Amino acid sequence: MAASPGRIEFIGNHTDYNGGSVLGVALDKEITVAASPRQDGRFVFFSPGRAAPFSAKAQFPLQKPSGGDSWAAYPLGILQVLQEETGWYPRGGLSLYVHSTVPEGAGLSSSAALELASLEAVLGISGLTMERSRKVLLAQAAENRFVGVPCGILDQAVSCFGETDHLVRIDCATTEFSATPMPEGLRFCIFNTNCKHSLVDSKYSERHAECRRALEKLQEGEPQLQHLALADAELLDNLSAEPVLQKRARHVVEENRRVGECVDALAAGNTAKVGELLFASHASSRDLFENSIPELDTLVDLLREQRDRGVLGARLTGGGFGGAVMALVRDLPDVEAVVAAYRQRHPEAPELSVLEVASGAGTRRL
Ligand code: GLA
Repeated sequence: MAASPGRIEFIGNHTDYNGGSVLGVALDKEITVAASPRQDGRFVFFSPGRAAPFSAKAQFPLQKPSGGDSWAAYPLGILQVLQEETGWYPRGGLSLYVHSTVPEGAGLSSSAALELASLEAVLGISGLTMERSRKVLLAQAAENRFVGVPCGILDQAVSCFGETDHLVRIDCATTEFSATPMPEGLRFCIFNTNCKHSLVDSKYSERHAECRRALEKLQEGEPQLQHLALADAELLDNLSAEPVLQKRARHVVEENRRVGECVDALAAGNTAKVGELLFASHASSRDLFENSIPELDTLVDLLREQRDRGVLGARLTGGGFGGAVMALVRDLPDVEAVVAAYRQRHPEAPELSVLEVASGAGTRRL
């Protein structure tokens, strides 16, 4: 049995696949997976409490199993990539039992939690051992190659390397991971819009492609530049003929700088500065990367109005185009006032879900 947590992207929006840095927090909400080998040549997955058809047992053949759009695609992807990388495969079959306290579709990365908990549980029965950084890369590869989302390393790395009362810092160019202590007395409030852009995956891929194109253009002037996040701000003038690419690149470069400033502000205990950086990150997502939606912008504005009630900062967390806002708070804000004002401005929007979360431990064998 193994467990792995959901995560918050604290700051560092779309910096991960651009070779920048990012800070995340592992949560006290997690996915637990129990695995046992079978002898009848079948995969049998069971996750009570999820939507049909997986509320009952789901069965897959051993050869070329496909989970389609369901949650089963994640553990199946893990098995596939594990076989490609190590040669190990549960040849007699496998039972997986999955239990989750991570809300789905809230931008808290239940998918990475499921990947890492499945991997860790399966490693337990395989007898293989693996460094944590390899587990992260393997889980990311499962999502990229098997599920088909070109995500960076943030979600898997934070889920794997999380520590209670710490932020996980990832240098995505070198894949180095470290833990940064969180100032005492801070909590997180998640406001999930429950809005999911129907094109969320294709929008993510579109931004990914725009960043790649921006990098290629910049490399024409500076061939040794390896990652967009590491470009000098002045170099971005070279993109003036491509205003959209220039905006995307500015977001990535400035966001990467904000991550560094945030690390310094955290070390100095300057929580007011941390909060400012979170608001600035959101404004950049809204105006430059254009991955926000009006509902997220409203929430951030309403939370900014609650600064005297203990809200330090707020921003969209994760890929964007829907999803959730995270607020860093010293005291619980007036949630009812936020919800009421939100409802007035967006009467047609889905109900908000509000969740208070704390930091938690990373992937572990139970
Ligand atoms: C999603 C992806 C991450 C990262 C964020 C944006 O959560 O899975 O890899 O790119 O979006 O920062």
